Amino acid sequence: MGFREVPIESIEFNPFAKIGKQWMLVTAGDQEKFNTMTASWGGAGVMWGKNAVTVYIRPQRYTKEFIDAKDTFTLSFYKEEYRKALSFLGSVSGRDRDKVKEAGLTPVPAGDSMAFEEADLILVCRKMYHAPMPPENFDDKSNDEKWYPQKDYHVMYIAEITKVLVKE
Ligand SMILES: Cc1cc2nc3c(=O)[nH]c(=O)nc-3n(C[C@H](O)[C@H](O)[C@H](O)COP(=O)(O)O)c2cc1C
Repeated sequence: MGFREVPIESIEFNPFAKIGKQWMLVTAGDQEKFNTMTASWGGAGVMWGKNAVTVYIRPQRYTKEFIDAKDTFTLSFYKEEYRKALSFLGSVSGRDRDKVKEAGLTPVPAGDSMAFEEADLILVCRKMYHAPMPPENFDDKSNDEKWYPQKDYHVMYIAEITKVLVKE
């Protein structure tokens, strides 16, 4: 089954449900070498006049090396039946194992990046900005204490959505 490019206005995209509850895979790299990880933090909106997403990636993620090395990455979304695969991809590192194969997903090129055949929605995203989130910038210090005992502060990426692909 292939994917069809559609106008962004045509999709239903409630970020609280899609990102927060359904989760997503953040994937970067090319057909030769890529990596993916599960994410449930992020946003969708408008920045610098562009339709944009934000994602938040901790420094130790192997996927971060691929995001940093490339201009684009994808966010991909899956039906409930893939929940177990997403849990798995969010609990082991591609540094240690061929986790995509183990999860049973099929890599496909998407824009200049990669995603998976099993997705029902893929957003191809072009990086516009990234920024670390240093502890001194926490207005609510309780989030620093709660989420960063290891001081592994997320890096925020803001990226333009350049393509919306839906399963045909
Ligand atoms: C539901 C869920 C949501 C997650 N959300 C994020 C996130 O938003 N940012 C992040 O850095 N890690 C997040 N993780 C953790 C990574 O997916 C996990 O550490 C993964 O194994 C990293 O894989 P990698 O080293 O192959 O990149 C999440 C994990 C799960 C299970």
